Amino acid sequence: MTMPAILKIEQISKSYGAVKAVSDVSLELQRGEILGLIGPNGSGKSTFFDCVTGLGTPDHGRVQLDGTDITGWPLNRIAREGRMLRSFQKTVVFSALDVEENLVIAGQMFAFDSTRATFGIGTETAAIVEELRIRARELIKLTGLWDVRHMPAGKLSGGQQKLIQFASMLMPKPKVILLDEPMAGINPKLIEQVVEAIRYANTQLGISFLIIEHNIDVVTSLCQRVIVLDQGQMLAQGTPQEIVINPLVREAYLGG
Ligand SMILES: Nc1ncnc2c1ncn2[C@@H]1O[C@H](COP(=O)(O)OP(=O)(O)O)[C@@H](O)[C@H]1O
Ligand SMILES: [Mg+2]
Repeated sequence: MTMPAILKIEQISKSYGAVKAVSDVSLELQRGEILGLIGPNGSGKSTFFDCVTGLGTPDHGRVQLDGTDITGWPLNRIAREGRMLRSFQKTVVFSALDVEENLVIAGQMFAFDSTRATFGIGTETAAIVEELRIRARELIKLTGLWDVRHMPAGKLSGGQQKLIQFASMLMPKPKVILLDEPMAGINPKLIEQVVEAIRYANTQLGISFLIIEHNIDVVTSLCQRVIVLDQGQMLAQGTPQEIVINPLVREAYLGG
């Protein structure tokens, strides 16, 4: 018997006024899968992510996460209760805090309710923070940030900040991560580091991924399957090998 999908998205539609940003898009992310989402600029990829992660409300459609209907849940609840996290095209880190502190704080936001995250003191809290610190150090090693772990995040390169953001997302042990253009604007050496970090999180931590990415080599190397959006609609789906030779995809996106 095959396991049901970890994320089941049915017929999502979203308009901004007269612009139909997403029209009737459905997909299933299987457990342990890395699924790619590609398409030209303005094809509705980020809007689709917004609808799935509770940042925007879809006009129509349903989202099921690990068997629970999460349609209409706000971003916070999907993150905390659903353990599904997303990144944004713009990288967000705590610039004044060092790398290790960034990760510990990310873990704390999920380990405690909001009162204890703010006022939490006492032995139990100290033990949890120590546990988070150990986990943070493991993830810092894994993402190749060990040598800069005591540097303020704001002083590091854009690529290193992406790695901090990614490592921070692993702190609360999510089931599913959605990444919006994780390789945008980072140099080739760091791209390899981010690819390796994603692969590790997938194979060793069991996290399933849905990734929007323009770098087709990265998509080919990471993803088992790819879905192509064009003008808010699903244009094609298949293995990366099938997608790169698909005439419709070549015309709409890959440049003939
Ligand atoms: N907040 C918004 N208000 C109005 N129109 C938007 C908004 N966000 C996106 N759009 C429009 O929706 C369409 C899809 O955009 P987007 O989801 O950002 O595409 P992608 O991420 O694939 O580049 C575009 O036509 C864009 O201009
Ligand atoms: Mg986008």
